[in-house]
Amino acid sequence: MIESSDLRMKKIPLSHGAGRVPALGFGTLIPDAAVTMTATRDALEAGFRHFDCAERYGNEREVGKALQEGLTGRGIAREEIFVTTKLWNSNHRPERVQPAFEASVARLALSYLDLYLIHTPFAFQPGDEQDPRDQNGNVLYDREVALLDTWKAMESLVDSGKCRAIGLSDITLDGLKPIYESARIKPAVVQVESHPYLPETELLEFCNEKGIVLLAFAPLGHGMKPGLLEDPVISAIAARVGKTPAQVLLAWAVQRGTAVLTTPRTAARARENFDISTLPEDAFDEINRIQTRQRLNNVVTTGVPGFIPKVS
Ligand SMILES: NC(=O)c1ccc[n+]([C@@H]2O[C@H](COP(=O)([O-])OP(=O)(O)OC[C@H]3O[C@@H](n4cnc5c(N)ncnc54)[C@H](OP(=O)(O)O)[C@@H]3O)[C@@H](O)[C@H]2O)c1
Repeated sequence: MIESSDLRMKKIPLSHGAGRVPALGFGTLIPDAAVTMTATRDALEAGFRHFDCAERYGNEREVGKALQEGLTGRGIAREEIFVTTKLWNSNHRPERVQPAFEASVARLALSYLDLYLIHTPFAFQPGDEQDPRDQNGNVLYDREVALLDTWKAMESLVDSGKCRAIGLSDITLDGLKPIYESARIKPAVVQVESHPYLPETELLEFCNEKGIVLLAFAPLGHGMKPGLLEDPVISAIAARVGKTPAQVLLAWAVQRGTAVLTTPRTAARARENFDISTLPEDAFDEINRIQTRQRLNNVVTTGVPGFIPKVS
């Protein structure tokens, strides 16, 4: 067995004194409303204090209700949890940003947000339709709004005091750089797909250099099999250190300096995914040497959510 450590409690400071984000986060991308509520409560009970939400997930009300009940029931103060939500693609026009933010905050039943992210850099046709398409099924993009203008509206939310930090999601290094250069308030967090098959090393180096937290999603390869959870290197390390493959993958992510999101849907998995410990150096290095490369989610090239496997 490996020694227990404080990886579970690790918090990473955010730029501009915007507080600290718990490295181990719970993601709320759960289609079912009832499961959203039980899974969120189970995550809180297991020890998760970082909750990742999105307008697009359609379940902010359920997450908010579960958090309220969980906090009250356990005597946990609002300041002890870290809550993120995201601006959807159909709300990129600057005048739509504040109303979208306020609607999310109201659904979550909170008075402020710890972090607000632009969900993807792709602007869709503005309006209430979240997935606007033409008659051939092609996405209707909005060519009249620049990402920097959306970003400036995000900066105003920080000025208002209702949002402590802002960031981007599903963005490439090339997309991030110009926003970083022009921003008055620099992005505090960048949320992207990342795991041993997609380490995003160059992006992570840039983030480390600029004081941006890289927040990794799909750390378990979205649970797809065959995939990371059955990778022979991961399985061998798990057996060697007396942990599960999921715990090894989450520990690796936190140990390399990223924050990470995972979505356990049952109480047992919430306890399992929270119970991570520092990997021995040789195991950590072995994972860094994995050569397989695979992006699971194409959202970074289209703005359309989804997990479409592409092996290279
Ligand atoms: N910004 C974006 O565009 C974006 C995109 C995707 C996700 N996210 C965020 O990232 C979060 C995490 O993403 P993710 O769903 O890819 O997370 P993930 O934890 O990599 O994958 C979740 C899958 O892994 C399985 N799983 C969870 N714990 C397990 C364990 N201990 N052993 C075996 N399988 C396990 C789950 O199975 P069961 O379903 O059977 O429990 C589920 O199918 C999301 O909830 C969301 O907040 C953001």
